[in-house]
Amino acid sequence: MAERVAVVGAGTMGSGIAQSAAACGFEVALVDVSEEALERGMRSVRANLERRVERGRISSEERDGVLGRISTFTSLESCAGASLVIEAVVEDIGVKREVFRTLERVVGEEAVLATNTSSLSVAEISATTRRPERVVGMHFFNPAPVMRLVEVVRGPRSGEEALARAEEAARRMGKTPVRVSDTPGFIVNRVARPFYLEALRLAETGESPARIDASLRERGFRMGPLELADLIGQDVNLAVSESLFRRYYCHPRFRPSHLQRSMFEAGLLGRKTGRGFYAYGPNGRAQQE
Ligand code: NAI
Repeated sequence: MAERVAVVGAGTMGSGIAQSAAACGFEVALVDVSEEALERGMRSVRANLERRVERGRISSEERDGVLGRISTFTSLESCAGASLVIEAVVEDIGVKREVFRTLERVVGEEAVLATNTSSLSVAEISATTRRPERVVGMHFFNPAPVMRLVEVVRGPRSGEEALARAEEAARRMGKTPVRVSDTPGFIVNRVARPFYLEALRLAETGESPARIDASLRERGFRMGPLELADLIGQDVNLAVSESLFRRYYCHPRFRPSHLQRSMFEAGLLGRKTGRGFYAYGPNGRAQQE
């Protein structure tokens, strides 16, 4: 029987991680709180796979194979039997800790528990469990089926065996694991935070988002900071900034943006709501204004 991986949270990241795991042969249990959230996540997986078929990257049989290996559930009990659980729920320490408390009860003794957190402390998440040595970070990047880097985070109590198994699973998914320590934002989100925050501060002064993004693209970046924040989700990007600001003891380098907060409050979250700095059509692509 194929090895079983559970992914908790079927949003932007969870759905992409589930797709990556199923594509390399794992049987995947994808868990969220509601059928609607699961349906949204599976729609995104189907659309991604369809695009790959259209571009000739995979066959329709491969697409059906990936879809056939993902099952959806609304209860964490379905994580029983998984050798690896990857948590990708909202960036909220209370919610994550609750999920880990329940997971510990339902999974087998051998299972590795990984969090996809961008900015929270693996130490704090693991402290909720009786066996913190099996808790690690597995930080994927967006879009998860495409981006190869996975930061494998060593919390102060993470065990070597759990870290090695997380790295092995990442490699099996075609990813490049890089082991990082449990500092706020790890490597990428710490170094990249000023990329978003400076662009947001510039937009607050009235500079055009399109001009900011185009300039950075011309400079060689694949995407500009504001269109990237639309892809990530203004809600998620704001939560990460607020968390890093707190964890770096209010260092001004990490001060969150008022503009981003007001976009979040107005529901202008980016691609997931159809509007952020740019407007998006039903296919998720930016529309001409
Ligand atoms: P999202 O908002 O798209 O999805 C979160 C999902 O978690 C939702 O479907 C929600 O219904 C579900 N959820 C909430 N509470 C739950 C619970 N108790 N049990 C099961 N499901 C639950 O968020 P996104 O963007 O997928 O982020 C998830 C995690 O991944 C966060 O920790 C975030 O920091 C991290 N991350 C996000 C990236 C991005 O670009 N969006 C990149 C890398 C990491």
